[in-house]
Amino acid sequence: MRVLADPSLFRQQAFLDGRFVGEPSFEVVNPADGTVIGRVPHLGAEAATAAVDAASAAFPGWAGKTAQERSDVLRAWRDLILENRIDLATILTSEQGKPLLEALGEIAYAASYVEFYAEEAKRVAGELLPSHRADARIMVLRQPIGVVAAITPWNFPAAMITRKIAPALAAGCTVVVKPAPETPLTALALAELARRAGFPAGAVNVITGDPIEIGGVLTSHEKVRLVGFTGSTDVGKILMRQSAGTVKKVALELGGNAPFIVFDDADLDAAVEGAMVSKFRNMGQTCVCTNRFLVDTSVHDAFVEKLKAPVGELRLGDGFSAGVTQGPLITRRAVAKVEEHLADALARGAQIVLGGRRSPLGELFYEPTIVTGATALMRLAREETFGPLAAIYRFETEDEAVEAANGPETGLAAYFYARDYARIIRVMERLEFGMVGVNTGLISTELAPFGGIKQSGNSREGSSHGIIEFTELKYVCLGGLANGWPAHG
Ligand code: SIN
Repeated sequence: MRVLADPSLFRQQAFLDGRFVGEPSFEVVNPADGTVIGRVPHLGAEAATAAVDAASAAFPGWAGKTAQERSDVLRAWRDLILENRIDLATILTSEQGKPLLEALGEIAYAASYVEFYAEEAKRVAGELLPSHRADARIMVLRQPIGVVAAITPWNFPAAMITRKIAPALAAGCTVVVKPAPETPLTALALAELARRAGFPAGAVNVITGDPIEIGGVLTSHEKVRLVGFTGSTDVGKILMRQSAGTVKKVALELGGNAPFIVFDDADLDAAVEGAMVSKFRNMGQTCVCTNRFLVDTSVHDAFVEKLKAPVGELRLGDGFSAGVTQGPLITRRAVAKVEEHLADALARGAQIVLGGRRSPLGELFYEPTIVTGATALMRLAREETFGPLAAIYRFETEDEAVEAANGPETGLAAYFYARDYARIIRVMERLEFGMVGVNTGLISTELAPFGGIKQSGNSREGSSHGIIEFTELKYVCLGGLANGWPAHG
């Protein structure tokens, strides 16, 4: 592990009830070179139960604080995250592989959720509704839902944690985080900063270990009232089924298969710029990464030609090396999936324009790749590749493009480039996705509701919608009052 300005951020124990505990045993590996950078405890059901019990015990005290008091602690956490951003980004790049600059961007992104929800804590309001009886009043309280479990992915080891737990904590919930086994060290550093910020013991817990055992407890424990998960649709369905036994709320942010449509009236230079960020951010490993480029046949060749140049300029390498724009993929399985999708596409008639092989830099490095001649029959049309493979399809009409875009059962993010105003409105309304980028390839911000429809999920993270997920309504009928309007005179 690289030297940190503050080595005490490098935590190799789980964070449970305000203390770091457990024997570091499970190896955390740097995907760039395979070296072991640290170890974390491999905990199971017993520790998960203890974490939920600690969160449950802390809940009344934390929920009972004023919104301003909770906001102050969140604000302190946000400040600490930013003050320590270089150390956090260093840990993040070491365990996840993304270039240091991109990791720094993620830390700022993570902090933006904490800042937003520190403010939003003060705006969670109930209602006083018109009553059905003169001697009664209808009050609607908006209360924190209770203990929240957050099961988070490896692709954004910091931001996917804060995006879930900052609104939960702001609403008055307490949390148990289970970070991805590949990237627990960023989560534990965030826990250390949460401790310093002044969250009471038990309000924030981070537990590492066996995903099946821990997930089993988090989805079945009576005291967990909401399970938040970012990851694959298949795992989301399992968690949903497991949570049914105790009727938990399940907030899912699942896989996508984002289309990126280039219409014949698009500004092609702008489309290429958008394509680069939407496809190659985080080496193609985001849920909102473009998976299918659908290009009008009349501009297809020009678009491909223009795209080749910036893709060819991407620099693969260790995320700590200057000028590197693309790090390694996260695991061998991730590389194998890119290879399988490419092999299947080539067997069905696709052609490689650029890349198409592993890099000699190491087993997890894969060259940014463009293929043309993609069709709906290929695996890469139906499944998310989650890697640096840009597959290009042709279309002839607007209807054909929209139908192809809407084809998969997922509906997270879609992008399109066009200039005709009527077309923009038409297509934007017809796309069956939770998020649509029009003439932009980057839509992520704490200010907007991030989330999908269809099999891409059922919740929203970010914006004022993101905190509502962690609350529930209580209707109070306040009866026995004097009969109606106060008497005068
Ligand atoms: C994700 O991949 O789940 C999140 C991507 C983002 O926030 O932009």
